[in-house]
Amino acid sequence: MKKLMAGNWKMYKLKDEAKETASALVKLLDGAAPEGREVLLIPPFTALRGVRKALKKAKGFALGAQNFYPSAQGAFTGEIAPEMLLDAGCAYALAGHSERRHILGESDAFVGEKVAFGLEKGLSMILCVGETLEERNAGRLEEVVRRQMEAGLAGVAPGVAPERLTVAYEPVWAIGTGLTAGPREILDAHALVRGVLAEKFAASAASMRILYGGSVKPENANEIILLDNVDGVLVGGSSLSAESFAKIAAA
Ligand code: G3P
Repeated sequence: MKKLMAGNWKMYKLKDEAKETASALVKLLDGAAPEGREVLLIPPFTALRGVRKALKKAKGFALGAQNFYPSAQGAFTGEIAPEMLLDAGCAYALAGHSERRHILGESDAFVGEKVAFGLEKGLSMILCVGETLEERNAGRLEEVVRRQMEAGLAGVAPGVAPERLTVAYEPVWAIGTGLTAGPREILDAHALVRGVLAEKFAASAASMRILYGGSVKPENANEIILLDNVDGVLVGGSSLSAESFAKIAAA
């Protein structure tokens, strides 16, 4: 399976700037994702249309969403339904990003509802997990990651197609801090994630992608992407620049 090189633009970029950045990225990559790579852009909702247009002629690119409400269309003021994301051209969606857990207060159970419902509706889902520095220092890495994964995957059928389910390990203390996790920390956490996946999905767990996220930069992407059980990256700040994300995508 191709390594997934994803850029999460969070709550940055108005629609025209987003479209310009996406167009610049496609141009820098000569209209196609690097060999063996899938490049995923995850812009704010208001920029989905423009970014979709910018990716229209590009090969190996995909569009994703940062969130949705786990229900069919209905009376949920202010929310977005998975069908609307599919209608806007999204193939992927995130669930459980640490900012939605720790700033917006999303529970493990609600994250699990999103993963299950998104898959049911036809999205490929990226479940984000990761510990805080306090949890790491208290030796609770395995407890936290296992809890988040078990709740996040509770509603997922064991026979799910491996390409439709991805896990992103994003240590909270590495997000936006410039403090990238070291090789040993990444190897240990990704081996843990792979093991929990195997408990539920048996052999197909080996084909599911595990992304690393947390201060990925052009300077460290090569080392990270070569580590065992790293099948891609989920990049925040460094994906906002077409130049730096093009270097990471090709790492
Ligand atoms: O979802 C990716 C994001 O949380 C990582 O952010 O800025 O540390 O690359 P950043």
